[in-house]
Formats: sequence, structure tokens, C-alpha cells
Amino acid sequence: MPRYRGVMVTGTDTEVGKTVVAAGLARFLRGEGLDVGVMKPVASGAVESASGRRVSSDVVALMTAACCSDPVEWVNPYCFIPPVAPALAAELEGVSVDMERIGDCYERLRNRHDLTVVEGAGGALTPVSGKLSVADLAQRLQVPALIVSRAGLGTINHTVMTVECLRNRGVECLGFILNRFPASPDLAERTNADRIAAITGALHLGSIPELSDPLGSGFAEHFMRSLDRESLRKVLLRPEPEETTQPQVSGQPGGRGRQSREAAES
Ligand SMILES: Nc1ncnc2c1ncn2[C@@H]1O[C@H](COP(=O)(O)OP(=O)(O)O)[C@@H](O)[C@H]1O
Ligand SMILES: [Mg+2]
Repeated sequence: MPRYRGVMVTGTDTEVGKTVVAAGLARFLRGEGLDVGVMKPVASGAVESASGRRVSSDVVALMTAACCSDPVEWVNPYCFIPPVAPALAAELEGVSVDMERIGDCYERLRNRHDLTVVEGAGGALTPVSGKLSVADLAQRLQVPALIVSRAGLGTINHTVMTVECLRNRGVECLGFILNRFPASPDLAERTNADRIAAITGALHLGSIPELSDPLGSGFAEHFMRSLDRESLRKVLLRPEPEETTQPQVSGQPGGRGRQSREAAES
């Protein structure tokens, strides 16, 4: 059972590894037996196919990882060509991004799946619609966030700011992941995670190494190996209800199944 019906994967920056982590997370959760949905509410930098269809590589990666067959217009209600922040890309295309439409699409996915992994755009304060940011979107969708950060010098500042920004908007921060962790870490890289955790109280959910083919077939395995699976389970899933040793009264209405379910849902 998931603790939440959705989770936002945000990052300290663009190109930090949100898509790689969101795709890995979708695979991890499928492996835990969940029916997983994915969403990229606003994509920019899309390309137009020969048939005139807009294709966002993030959306393709997420849908492939989750093996989902939802209508792409629910998964990605806004898809822009200019490779700039979503709010600006929308302006350039003369479109206004409607947070309610995003909310409706999320609701549909939420109703279809156990848990929906939502990838933000850029960083937490990247504008999505007018002055509303990715963090505001997480707050409106009422989903907690998971942060993807760089491994090296500078990441303490960026990650702590991101945690503060999310919390200031009432968005729960589930933890952070350092991405592209080098094989021979320097002093900053060796100590950053502990320092960020000490300052923010946020959980370090693991560090992903530099991978030769981050979205390739062996990726899921790498992803699982480099992350703290127990912590991921703890923050995202409810513990299995313990088997009761009490004798069950046969014929009791509701029975054991219902009690277990109620315990799990409480
Ligand atoms: N752990 C990794 N090892 C190697 N390359 C990575 C890793 N994580 C991300 N990348 C690469 O970095 C680029 C940006 O990653 P992506 O997940 O698309 O970032 P974002 O979604 O934050 O913009 C992509 O080309 C991706 O393949
Ligand atoms: Mg991305």
C-alpha cells in the first residue's frame, strides 16, 4: 500500500537527473507490486515528429518506465517546443497554462493508479504558469516531493534552499538523492549528504553513480542498488499489516481481511 497517491520528483536544477530518477522510481514501485502512473504536467524542449505530433523525451521515458497506456494528454497536458522554462515557453506559443487542467489530469491518473510519479520541470521555483512555480504545483496537487541534487560542491546550498522552498509552501519533503556520484569522490562529495541531512533533517535516500546508459535496460538494477531501498519503502509505502495471532471467530462479519485492510488504511 502506498502512503501517498502521488509524489513529485523535483530537483535543484534542470538536467540534474529528475527524469532518470522518476523513471527509476516508477520501475522500483512497479517492482513493489504497485500500479504506477506517471505525469509530466508541463514539458518544454519537445520536438515535432514527421506526423506533426509533439514528442517530449521525458514523457516517453516516464511512460516506458511505468508501462502505462494512459492518454498522453493526461500524462502531459502541456507540451511546448521552445527549450525554456515552461511559463516562458507557453507565453512564446501564446498558450496560458491552466493549473486546474493540470489538476484534472492528475485526478484522472490518481483515480486509475496506486501511485503517480510526477516529474516537475527545472527546479522548485521554475515558473510553470505566470508566477506559480513547480513548488506551488506540488502544493496544489497535494503531493510530497523528492529532490534530485548534484553530488559536488555547491549542492549543500542548492539542496537546502530547495527543501526550505518546498516546506515554506507546505510541501512535504520526503528526502533527497545525489545523482552522478563519482567513483572517486572528493572531500565535498564525500561529506555533502550528511551535511544536508544534518541541516534540513531530510533523508538521504541514496546516491546514484555515473551510469553509461542511465535509461538503458540495466538501469533499474543500478538504480535499486545505489538507493537505500529500505528508506524508500519506508517513506513511500505503508508497512505490511502484521499477521494477527488472535484466533478469528468464524463467520464474524467483515472478518480478518477487513480488519487488516482497515489497519493498513488508518
Ligand atoms: N546517473 C547518471 N549517469 C549518467 N548520466 C546521467 C545520470 N543521470 C542523468 N544522466 C544524464 O543527464 C542528462 C539529464 O538527465 P535528466 O534525467 O534528463 O535530467 P532532468 O530531468 O533533471 O532535466 C540526461 O542526458 C541523462 O541521461
Ligand atoms: Mg526531465
